[in-house]
Amino acid sequence: GYDVSKLLKATGAVTYDPGFMNTAATSSAITYIDGDAGILRYRGYPIEQLAQHSSFLEVSYLLIYGELPTPTELEEFDQKIRRHTLLHEDLKGFFGGFPRDAHPMPVLSSAVSALSTFYQDSLDPFNQEQVELSTIRLLAKVPVIAAYAHKKSIGQPMLYPDNSMNLVENFLRLSFGLPVEQYELDPTIVKALDLLLILHADHEQNCSTSTVRLVGSANANLFASVSAGINALFGPAHGGANEAVLKMLRQIQADGIKPEDYMEKVKNKEDGVRLMGFGHRVYKNYDPRAKIIKATAHEVLGKLGGNDELLDIAMRLEEKALADDYFIQRKLYPNVDFYTGLIYKAMGFPEKMFTVLFAIGRLPGWIAQWREMINDPATKIGRPRQLYTGYPERNYPAV
Ligand code: ACO
Repeated sequence: GYDVSKLLKATGAVTYDPGFMNTAATSSAITYIDGDAGILRYRGYPIEQLAQHSSFLEVSYLLIYGELPTPTELEEFDQKIRRHTLLHEDLKGFFGGFPRDAHPMPVLSSAVSALSTFYQDSLDPFNQEQVELSTIRLLAKVPVIAAYAHKKSIGQPMLYPDNSMNLVENFLRLSFGLPVEQYELDPTIVKALDLLLILHADHEQNCSTSTVRLVGSANANLFASVSAGINALFGPAHGGANEAVLKMLRQIQADGIKPEDYMEKVKNKEDGVRLMGFGHRVYKNYDPRAKIIKATAHEVLGKLGGNDELLDIAMRLEEKALADDYFIQRKLYPNVDFYTGLIYKAMGFPEKMFTVLFAIGRLPGWIAQWREMINDPATKIGRPRQLYTGYPERNYPAV
């Protein structure tokens, strides 16, 4: 109910841009997106090529250090991460302090925030060596913390990491293994999880990454900044969408509603319901990550024995939406999360873990963006302006 042009005049020359729809807050050499053409590249490499030929570990190196590693560099990187997987025993005590039904995302962000208390030797954001150590610690420990949050929620014992395994294998063993039996890695699950993590590894200035940069712009250390990013990712409009998609599909299944009737509800904006997993701030075309996932969803779900009925509902919704004027006019296409939940579920993860898996994937992107920010001479403390809409000066009532 206020006149923006008047407010702009009153404030002086500022740009009014809610949601930063049109404001570049930084320059960056990490990730390129062309939302209209549906293109995504990390450090210049098309996501399709990385998905087919690379690994999550290699992509993490690429994002953070700017170039693909040589085999020796990759081996060294892998070994360093394996050597830093143990959590301080006192940190493990944290997990007992949360309610058993706690959502693992706030457990993860709290534990990552707590890393600042355990590793006080790596808090100087301008000390390259310390930043390097924090980088490795985060890459090594976040999957372990995530797996422990899961184990805690199901009441199972936490295993120690096995350093004969890489980051992704270790995470699976810590999530699903038991001390009483040997954990057999399923190559289908390892490959599918590795792929999903690659697809989530960076996405330029999204909400959580911008949060990491904003917090870091105050010279907050890497642990503090990444913890803030995890909290941003917890929001259902951002990382929580994969969980929300599965809830929506199950609801449609449980209520026995036809996908087309659900679409009508969405279009009529009944109770503010949206088609979860659809739409994106940047992609006004098919999300290239969704294309890759769709292609593998059938293969993976076939092998893992996923819920075919939910996949059918998802495909039917997609088919209807892509042919519907409401979605065409608004350029709403499936985003990366439309199919991921179904795959995570088939792997054995509970819904609450889906956003945590997103966080593990996005971690190298957050680290790369934070390091770029801290080394950029153009960085200034993030401090947006506002248009004041409150009272003009008024007097405190006389007593
Ligand atoms: N279902 C139905 N309508 C939608 C949807 C949707 N999923 N998304 C957008 N719209 C409609 C809006 O109602 C609006 O219509 P209107 O002009 O008639 O009011 C129009 O499309 C534009 O929507 P905005 O909310 O302005 O678009 P914005 O760019 O701000 O939002 C967002 C992007 C948050 C992703 C949105 O599309 C959404 O809520 N999608 C569902 C949640 C989701 O899948 N999030 C995951 C994002 S991807 C990720 O984080 C990995």
